[in-house]
Amino acid sequence: MTKIISIANQKGGVGKTTTTINLATSLSAINKKVLIIDADPQGNASTGLGIPYEDRSPNLYELIIDRELDPSAIKETQVPNLKIITSNTNLAAAEVELANVEKREFVLEEILNKTKNFDFIIIDCPPALGFLTINSLVASSSVIVPLQSEFFALEGISSLMNTIQLIKENYNSKLNVEGILLTMVDKRNSLSSLVEKDVREHFGEIVYTTTIPRNVKISEAPSHGKPALIYDVNCSGSMAYIGLAKEIINKQGQ
Ligand SMILES: Nc1ncnc2c1ncn2[C@@H]1O[C@H](COP(=O)(O)OP(=O)(O)OP(=O)(O)O)[C@@H](O)[C@H]1O
Ligand SMILES: [Mg+2]
Repeated sequence: MTKIISIANQKGGVGKTTTTINLATSLSAINKKVLIIDADPQGNASTGLGIPYEDRSPNLYELIIDRELDPSAIKETQVPNLKIITSNTNLAAAEVELANVEKREFVLEEILNKTKNFDFIIIDCPPALGFLTINSLVASSSVIVPLQSEFFALEGISSLMNTIQLIKENYNSKLNVEGILLTMVDKRNSLSSLVEKDVREHFGEIVYTTTIPRNVKISEAPSHGKPALIYDVNCSGSMAYIGLAKEIINKQGQ
């Protein structure tokens, strides 16, 4: 059984891509077979894993247009056990080009149904609640919502939760919220602690015990085309993502 997790929040810059790359790397480090889907036309997950533009063909755009899984779109990464279906700016056109096709919400699910032998598929969603995020949620068993621990963290979260509920009712009854992840936490900053307290009071147990600290190594790693875990396995950010992977595996075992 493949577990398919969307990393979603329509708010920009909250740590979706960072979580996708480093959670996927942590899971592959414990011998899980993992596939990342870069479902964002910005292509940040592909870049962060060091995949050059010229090696991104075919990518998610072609798969979506053809509604087929071309196995050559599944690219190796520098991380053993971790593969990726890449994207580039072409992907932005998919929404318009598929405006009138039948069952347009199920295109990604059809493609992912044809993948084999992965324990986890992690989908990096774009910062919008459009076609790509809806397709990702329809294809997923669960969703992780990263929240940046700052003043506007909860802004927009109710429209995200409504969208998840609507998808559950109309397209994918098995979809559930895997967890809410606090990112860029700064323990020395009282606002950050206040936001954490607020989020835990509001959402209770679905908030992961693990939080991701604000850590400069995490922000440097993508410019070297490496996951933080490869760039510096001992930094506080890498340790936190390893902790998150453990928490997810333990929850699953229950
Ligand atoms: N824990 C962290 N510590 C320091 N910097 C971080 C951390 N997490 C993410 N960042 C940095 O914050 C920025 C936004 O992170 P990221 O790209 O993961 O967010 P995103 O939600 O995927 O953004 P978008 O909505 O544009 O796709 C990046 O420059 C990233 O390197
Ligand atoms: Mg991103």
